[in-house]
Amino acid sequence: MIELEIKEVFGKIRPHPVVFVITVDGRGSPTGMACGWHMKTNLNPPLYTIALKTGSHTEELIKKSQEFVIAFPSKLLEEELVYFGTRSGREFDKFKETKIKTRKSKNLQSPLLEEATINLECFLYKTITAADHTIIIGRVVAAHHKPGQKLLFTLGRKDKERYFKEL
Ligand SMILES: Cc1cc2nc3c(=O)[nH]c(=O)nc-3n(C[C@H](O)[C@H](O)[C@H](O)COP(=O)(O)O)c2cc1C
Repeated sequence: MIELEIKEVFGKIRPHPVVFVITVDGRGSPTGMACGWHMKTNLNPPLYTIALKTGSHTEELIKKSQEFVIAFPSKLLEEELVYFGTRSGREFDKFKETKIKTRKSKNLQSPLLEEATINLECFLYKTITAADHTIIIGRVVAAHHKPGQKLLFTLGRKDKERYFKEL
């Protein structure tokens, strides 16, 4: 066992699934981001938690709209995931640019991602400030799954390139 930089050891905690976090702006237009820091949090009631950089476009809009979708992609959406994770919705209409397919959700204004393996519909349950991130806990009000389709996991970055694996 050797002691390393904390950041380096954090990077070794993988693979873990990566998701899209989708919400809507004041006009009801969808936007969102890629998120690797998330977890199941409670079953009764069902809660799911994400950690978003405070002040990011998606984080600000979730606080306003009080709702979001967590969409777990397969390899089918790898390119779109990187696009959503490397541009801000303040400058780009990510849904228009990627032509990503959506489907109406059951309870929210935010859409589901048609090609995702899992979509969770969440209402904002609670936020907690943790240094420069906001811990956002969502109350899951509906869950959708595509049988036979896998999930996309991140293997981290090498020479600035991002690596993913479907499991
Ligand atoms: C694979 C991947 C995982 C990411 N995970 C997170 C995360 O867990 N939390 C976060 O705040 N940003 C994360 N990001 C960065 C955001 O997705 C990125 O800053 C995005 O441009 C924010 O978009 P917005 O400004 O439209 O909200 C991740 C990016 C990638 C590519």
